[in-house]
Amino acid sequence: MWFLLPYISLCLSLETYYSASNIIYSPSSISAILTFQGQSQPSTIHTLNLTILAESYTHARVRITDLNSTRWEVPDIILNPSSLILFSEANYSITLFENPFGLSIFRKSNNQLIFHIDPNVTFQYQNQDLIMTSLLDYPFYVYGFGERVSHFPLNPGIYTLFARGQPGPYDNGKPPGKNMYSSQPVYIAIDSLGNSHGGFLLNSNAMDVTIHNYSITYRPIGGIIDYFAFVGPKPEDVAKQYQKLVGLPVLIPYWTLGYHQSRWGYHNLSDLQNVVTNFNKYQIPLDVMWTDIDYMTNFEDFTLDPERYNYKNFSIFIENLHSANRKFVPICDAAIPIYDYPPYNLALEQNLFIGSPHHYGALIGKVWPGLAVFIDWFNPNATGYWHNMMISLRKLVDFDGFWIDMNDPSNFCEGECGYPASQFVKDLPYIPGYLSLNLLTIDLAATHIGGLIEFDVHNLYGFKMALASSKYFTDILKTRPFILSRSSFPGQGRFASKWLGDNFSLYDWMAYSIPGIFNFQIFGIPLIGADICGFSFDTTEDLCCRWYQLGTMYPFTRNHNSNNTIPQEPWAFGLLLLTVSNQAIRNKYSLMNYYYTHMFYLSIEGGTFFKPTFFEYPTDIRLQYDHAEKNFMVGPALLVHPALIRDLTVVEAYFPADIWYNWYTGKRITTPFNRTLTLDAPLNGTINIHIRGGQIVTKNDASTTANTVYDLRYGNITLVIAIDGEGLAKGSMILDDGVSLGTIENGNYTEIYYKYSEDGKVAYLDFFIKNSGYRKAQGEWPFVSTLVLYGCISPIRSVFNNQNQVDYSLAYNSRLQVATAKLLSIQPDSPYKLQINF
Ligand code: NOJ
Repeated sequence: MWFLLPYISLCLSLETYYSASNIIYSPSSISAILTFQGQSQPSTIHTLNLTILAESYTHARVRITDLNSTRWEVPDIILNPSSLILFSEANYSITLFENPFGLSIFRKSNNQLIFHIDPNVTFQYQNQDLIMTSLLDYPFYVYGFGERVSHFPLNPGIYTLFARGQPGPYDNGKPPGKNMYSSQPVYIAIDSLGNSHGGFLLNSNAMDVTIHNYSITYRPIGGIIDYFAFVGPKPEDVAKQYQKLVGLPVLIPYWTLGYHQSRWGYHNLSDLQNVVTNFNKYQIPLDVMWTDIDYMTNFEDFTLDPERYNYKNFSIFIENLHSANRKFVPICDAAIPIYDYPPYNLALEQNLFIGSPHHYGALIGKVWPGLAVFIDWFNPNATGYWHNMMISLRKLVDFDGFWIDMNDPSNFCEGECGYPASQFVKDLPYIPGYLSLNLLTIDLAATHIGGLIEFDVHNLYGFKMALASSKYFTDILKTRPFILSRSSFPGQGRFASKWLGDNFSLYDWMAYSIPGIFNFQIFGIPLIGADICGFSFDTTEDLCCRWYQLGTMYPFTRNHNSNNTIPQEPWAFGLLLLTVSNQAIRNKYSLMNYYYTHMFYLSIEGGTFFKPTFFEYPTDIRLQYDHAEKNFMVGPALLVHPALIRDLTVVEAYFPADIWYNWYTGKRITTPFNRTLTLDAPLNGTINIHIRGGQIVTKNDASTTANTVYDLRYGNITLVIAIDGEGLAKGSMILDDGVSLGTIENGNYTEIYYKYSEDGKVAYLDFFIKNSGYRKAQGEWPFVSTLVLYGCISPIRSVFNNQNQVDYSLAYNSRLQVATAKLLSIQPDSPYKLQINF
């Protein structure tokens, strides 16, 4: 136990432990009986069943259950089906310790521990208090474990996982209890050499997770131990391995990457109309208009306030949005008000509400409309009911996506209105996060169909609501779903997206959005963003400018704010914000196909898009901590250094060792690597972006004039070719209709792979068509208008396609070493071998 000495605090007195017996080793599994030894507590579970499964080459599964009785387990809705492989072929090996029981999992390729239940460290299995520690023999940083506002990596401390609608407190694990809307018991760890592994505890009960430099301790208060150890060895590998287990991210509609405008406090239809008029007037792209609870009558789900949102005029408003190729998304809250109207009456008739632990009938909570009740998503009739409600709402408002809120679920009464906490809650032996688990939500003794209790299923509320809502799109409308949910659980990325919830209009909270987004990339919910300009409190013009610069790099780009705060639309302050927001949005639109292409890949193979830079450069240790959240990459090609500090018009930018060019000018970074460089970051400018040598990025030419992302489809593409040290570069683009279901499964997309390679005084640019399943609409994706070569040491003399010269205008900037060629009749999705002569 050479590595134990500094971590004595984890050790048990060794008066109580489990011993392993009846061990059976088979090619794909190991099983054993674990028997408690020593003085037990009344709630100690004495005999456990251990099963270790070789579930894939890259992850092992460790299940520890009660041998003699059934305990709550997360239902079979999270994991992708898998079949066992052979341990001998897996990239991990297992060692079992018998007495006391312990377990090690090693990554075979470098014989490194990635999970270790040390026989000398407390392993506890009591009915409502389970403790399992993984103690490794080297220090590591930990990222993940949502949801909270925190740093990347997580500081040592105690982190609570329990979905609760508390608005964005900063959480450094001291004290615990700052948990927010989701429960995501998933992490990635990295050591000082860049080796990464991951872990996932499939458990929906409330839990605390304690992080030390060498260890992670899980302390769930129910369920079972069902742990997955991922071998990595790179952080991006772990993200992929995890997402393959819980399901790859849903393929998003193309338009969701456009600009979204929302606020709580568009009090009536003319407020909405004015907003759209202003986008038109100031010629700022707008793809999606949102309405918060303002559109409802008295905040009642599935209603439309006839006074403030006249049905006929509202329909015309949405029709106009649609004819301008824009979309509309309304909010829908989790709780149904107790009120004599069909959504309540129909659910009541079918007995669809979560039951009270105190009285016969539904548990009564309080949300925006007043007293309200909660749908029991475990009731098999709940989804059908929900679809009927969505159908009736869509007759009132013709929506394109659905925003589901307060689904943690939130309750303004603690537990149940008018009742104290149930005895069950009072008797819990351990309370993750110390705060009452009834706080801001429903009583954990609330009852669900089939004898389920809220205690076990609480963290699944958002998942189940999002799943039902998503099925409305996939099963009834037969279109790609766009569900924006506040609460989430592992696997939710298969059908829904998320935003980071209620943040503050403060610089620090803008900066925290970066680790927040990183985490959800790991969790497999890549279409994620934070409320631009901030939600709570009045924003300021300078903060808003900075937030537009940053927020237009998020995958999900939406300005949203709270009721009773000052307006923060692009024109809300004056010319500065107007200019900055417009150029920032247009900058994102210029990258739209790049964004879509790489988001598309996530739906094929998992992984991350808006990512920590060390995911691309894992061995650069300064990126793991010092510079982990001060910069980020979007996709494999673009490195971004946001300006996050008030009044500072420079950023200290750290560049990992590689070739980097300024995205806008092509100027190469010449600073020695692994140190920072001061970059100008004027408030009225664009965010600092650098393109990595060796990458080709597609740029949408129509971004300068587009009103929506639809317009981009009828514009040309520029290929920005950032040449690496060998004279090479590569990139790709996906084209599809952006809305249909089954695009990947049916191959209804076109994938073009671009490869640039220099050979003496010529270079070749190959367009390889890897898949050609998309039939373009008339006039769509017409041409590659321009080639821009960064790091080009001599001017281009001509560009040929076979025997035909296809350039019509050439330029060269020798100071920047940027060559430009304007091309004739080259389509982005046809096979070519262009010859570039220097
Ligand atoms: C809470 C949500 O987080 C916020 O975005 C929304 O504006 C309010 N609920 C009102 O619906």
